[in-house]
Amino acid sequence: MQLCRCRNYEEISQRAAELLTAQLTWKKDSTLGLATGGSPVGLYRKLRERFAEGLVDFSEVKTVNLDEYRGLAPENPQSYRYFMEENLFRHVNIHPENTYVPNGLEKDTETACRNYDAVIQRLGGIDLQLLGIGRNGHIGFNEPSDHFSSGTHCVKLSENTIEANQRFFERREEVPTEAYTMGCGAILRARRILLLASGRDKAEAVHAMLYGTITPQLPASILQLHENVLVLADEEALGQ
Ligand code: F6R
Repeated sequence: MQLCRCRNYEEISQRAAELLTAQLTWKKDSTLGLATGGSPVGLYRKLRERFAEGLVDFSEVKTVNLDEYRGLAPENPQSYRYFMEENLFRHVNIHPENTYVPNGLEKDTETACRNYDAVIQRLGGIDLQLLGIGRNGHIGFNEPSDHFSSGTHCVKLSENTIEANQRFFERREEVPTEAYTMGCGAILRARRILLLASGRDKAEAVHAMLYGTITPQLPASILQLHENVLVLADEEALGQ
């Protein structure tokens, strides 16, 4: 894993925007694996600005998001589909039919997961996967567990994650307890991985991901096995 030390969140966002722009210059029709949450908000803002300046073109880009809360409709402001529309999609020239997020309204877990894996396969895999990292080391919503999951699956969110995500909801009871997420296998098959980590509350997880034992108890540690991972982390996330 390659580590790039950044001063702060602003520098992470700037560098990530440069790398994504380079990826789309390199391959206009890239398939991007995208993440939600606080980590990529600055990056998406910079991509919107770059698009407005004519520096980046999304017309041939395809996107697959990592995860979606189970039970939330796309028009629910807390859904990850809504987040993506607000933060990126509706501001750039991406074709809506080229953007994929797991279907949170699909009640049948097997159907939801099978369909999503088929989408990723049909797109020919992921060229660049963007990731954040949870305080407990989760990636996507692959929570600490006794095994690594390969394909898309439904997870019960840990107390730790529910607590961390509570900031986006008015009340704790409103935070969904389940989500559909891409598996670690699909993430590892991405050709490139870019992980963003900012803030002191990520320091322990980042240290274990970079230097600890590879274990499903710290799902991000599996990234040590991938040959093309770049971690953009700020001083706080590196415990400095
Ligand atoms: C979001 C996702 C999660 C987040 C992680 C960090 O799509 O898959 O793994 O990346 O929970 O969240 P933030 O960035 O809010 O600290």
